[in-house]
Amino acid sequence: MTSDSQAAPARFHRLAEIRNPIAFTLDGVPQEAEAGDTLLCAVLTVRPALRRNLADGELRAGFCQIGACQDCLVRCNDVPVRACLTPLNPGDRIELVLDVPTQDGGGET
Ligand code: FES
Repeated sequence: MTSDSQAAPARFHRLAEIRNPIAFTLDGVPQEAEAGDTLLCAVLTVRPALRRNLADGELRAGFCQIGACQDCLVRCNDVPVRACLTPLNPGDRIELVLDVPTQDGGGET
């Protein structure tokens, strides 16, 4: 799957190199993050967004960062979770929800 969010630059930039790497996959692609990262941090150092707003299709990268808004929902190991509260574990499989339902029932990426 290729989308504009995959081609765009990451939202976060690390100020230091990764010292304690954890391997995970993001939409099936192997990635690496720092031990102690949340899913939100791990994803946004690779991508510009976590999901699309279902109402208007805009890319979203979380809002509250404290578990209150659910603007950061992703699937981790097939379970929907709030990325801002969920610590990354080795081997996690993170999938972003970037499809926006259309009136004909299809999805747009
Ligand atoms: S950013 Fe609000 S719940 Fe995660």
